Amino acid sequence: RKTPVALQEDGSYVISTYRELTGILHNPHLSSDVRNLSRPIPGAEERGTPSFINIDPPEHDRLRRLAMRPFGPPHTPGLVTGMEPDLTAIVSGLIDDFAGKERIDIVDDFAYPFPVTVICHLLGVPREDEPRFHLWVNAIIDLLAYDPKTDPKEKLDNGIQASKDLRQYLGGLLEQRHGRPGDDLLTRLANDDGPDGRMTDEEIVSTANLLLIAGHETTVNLITNGTLTLLRHPQVLQRLRNEPDLIVPLVEELLRYEPPVHMIPWRAAYSDITVADTVIPKGSQIMLMLASGSRDPDRFHDPDRFDPDRQDNQHLGFGSGIHLCFGGPLARLETQIALNELVRRLDRPRLVTDPPPYRPSPVLRGPIHLHIE
Ligand code: HEM
Repeated sequence: RKTPVALQEDGSYVISTYRELTGILHNPHLSSDVRNLSRPIPGAEERGTPSFINIDPPEHDRLRRLAMRPFGPPHTPGLVTGMEPDLTAIVSGLIDDFAGKERIDIVDDFAYPFPVTVICHLLGVPREDEPRFHLWVNAIIDLLAYDPKTDPKEKLDNGIQASKDLRQYLGGLLEQRHGRPGDDLLTRLANDDGPDGRMTDEEIVSTANLLLIAGHETTVNLITNGTLTLLRHPQVLQRLRNEPDLIVPLVEELLRYEPPVHMIPWRAAYSDITVADTVIPKGSQIMLMLASGSRDPDRFHDPDRFDPDRQDNQHLGFGSGIHLCFGGPLARLETQIALNELVRRLDRPRLVTDPPPYRPSPVLRGPIHLHIE
């Protein structure tokens, strides 16, 4: 409240209030291109052609439009609506496998395999290759983490190597898809001649790479943060058991209260920008504290309270503006199904450790393990 815009020692700016964040997310003088950052994201240069999350208009808009075409009209559930029965079947199968286990790790046994199976299936990645993805994606996501126990050079080398391996693998899959009609996303992208023309192979690989990474970790964290929040709020858990429709506003409230993406580190000012009376000079790097904006007391009443009945819940969990998350409908549906099924089928679940251990990342927030009995 006192410092909506804070200058850091390294010359970058941190923005943490709702009004200023929404303003800046819609400001056309801001770049998402990692090549413009004064404090580079480790490994960003070496990891190959950026995907459209880190590209500015007009290229961003062309690539986003092309990537969205297989999903149906923008901002409608499109492809996602028809997926409900398949998603429910995957979730049920995972919960069936809990039988006989004394202790369940919600991350490893449930929240991780579910969205990973879905995104791999959507893209057309064979099931037997999924474990390799686990290793690659983890090494790439670790580039955004800060862990004093790991050697930064080793982490960087692992992340860069994993990016190269993943790209090479996706390139191989793409080669098989050319000229072949099929239903997976990779095949559709490879053979789609829409009004914007075709993506190049390099662009398809970068897009598939983005969807895999974006579709992995974030949804895992939303499901895990959701399970933890429900276990900490037993009255809400009990209410959800009796009123399954509560899940829709409840997931929105989770995206506000325990969002998987805490901050976006990749924005830079194209020109001098004034935010809350502070002039941010051209070229400065800007960090957007989305999670803080979603708990801004000037925008949300009693912001530290988890309240699924909250009205007008325009949180920043999926960002805002031209880079608004386009996996939102899928992530919402997955989390709604996962939490409703867990609550319906688990009898008096109990947390083993509270708080659980977290991935040491300032960007993505979620437990590494969440054991329940
Ligand atoms: C962008 C959050 C799930 C694909 C974003 C952004 C946020 C976000 C905050 C904005 C980044 C920025 O402004 O720089 C989340 C959360 C998720 C989730 C919290 C789960 C709970 C997904 C899924 C997919 C996906 C499942 C893919 C199927 C994308 C893509 C972008 C994006 C492609 C870039 C959009 C653009 O640059 O135009 N996401 N995401 N996300 N997300 Fe998600």
